[in-house]
Amino acid sequence: MTGPRSGGPGASPKATLGGHVTRQLLRLGESVGLSAAACESYADVLVEALGGVARRPLELPPPDRSFLSDDHTPVEFSLSCEPGAAPSLRVLLEPGAGERDLAQNGRTGLRVLREMAQRWDFTTDPLDELEDLFFPPSPHGPLALWCALELRPGGVPKVKAYLNPAASGPGRAARTVRKALKRLGHREAFASLPYSDRHLFFALDLGDWTEPRAKVYLAHDELSAAEAGTLCRMDDGPDPAEIEEFFRIAAGHDAESGQGGLEAGGAGAGAPERGNGPRIVRRPVQTCHAFTDTGAALPSGFTVYVPVRDYARHDGEALVRATTLLGRYGLDPASVLRASAAVSERRPEDGVGLVAYLGLAHQRGRPPRITTYLSSEAYAVRPPAAPDPAADARPADVPAAALSAGPPAAS
Ligand code: TRP
Repeated sequence: MTGPRSGGPGASPKATLGGHVTRQLLRLGESVGLSAAACESYADVLVEALGGVARRPLELPPPDRSFLSDDHTPVEFSLSCEPGAAPSLRVLLEPGAGERDLAQNGRTGLRVLREMAQRWDFTTDPLDELEDLFFPPSPHGPLALWCALELRPGGVPKVKAYLNPAASGPGRAARTVRKALKRLGHREAFASLPYSDRHLFFALDLGDWTEPRAKVYLAHDELSAAEAGTLCRMDDGPDPAEIEEFFRIAAGHDAESGQGGLEAGGAGAGAPERGNGPRIVRRPVQTCHAFTDTGAALPSGFTVYVPVRDYARHDGEALVRATTLLGRYGLDPASVLRASAAVSERRPEDGVGLVAYLGLAHQRGRPPRITTYLSSEAYAVRPPAAPDPAADARPADVPAAALSAGPPAAS
């Protein structure tokens, strides 16, 4: 699904993965008002965390079949917007991308996280306590460890670690999540989770958080808006009608196009093992359940994620949904347009997948947040779907260079 960028207009022989994501991060940082100094220091952090793959020429295929993004770029950006605050820029990355196998990928991920902990003086204790559960000697896919950074002003990020509940095999995922929650002191948390089709990720907040969370991500195949409204397990959570409305707008149920419907026969993709051949599109909706108090049986946070790229014809449509949602919550819709233009020079209508997910997050004591996930598209852009709603097949991906308006990033 990838193609070389070389040969495209303005392709530079020096363009590297590190150069590409650095340029995106600097432009994004500027678009959310981070200082130039903070942006530069975060760009260094990103390149350092990627290690050797940052120097990899973009004309080579991706370092491996990373599950982090559709074109296997081991980096994804997101913009989280909540009332009364500047939008917060985050970056998700796979530090072990390009390692020879998942076991080594996980070891590299742990080393990079521990180096961050030393540098910014936080503890990795919760992660260390779970190491045997998530890092078995012969791990299964689709990931070993991802790390996310919330790029605060000032240059010290908040850090999150994402682990794979299916590391000991998909059949063990639920048990692994239950054990992990219990070890962290959340004894009744597992029992509070709603029904799901798969346990996708287990995440930990590390570093400077007022209320660090342990989070469980669940996949829900062929979910309806009404069903989504029933999945929150928070004590004083959002009204089901609010979740339903978010779902309908994000999935395009209100649009005239017949392409939007999540119930329209989509195959749930979930988390395929690495190397299993072509990926199925139409990914499932996910929910995230966040636990903060060990004394409480119920989560204090709930997020719903709609993989908008599988339910929109092109990113122009996805961006309209994002701005509609931001408007509903009294948030500045222009922030997401600026961010998408900062990440990609192509026209949104010329591809689908720049906007990967739209998320609605509720956390006790805070106003709801809308998050837009923006793909780096270092290796490929998925072409827009045909305007004919009956056309279900998607053409193969084309090289990013073929669709980008400007020259690729220089290193
Ligand atoms: N690429 C994976 C997916 O599409 C994992 C992922 C990346 C993800 N960013 C995400 C999942 C944001 C949920 C929300 O599922």
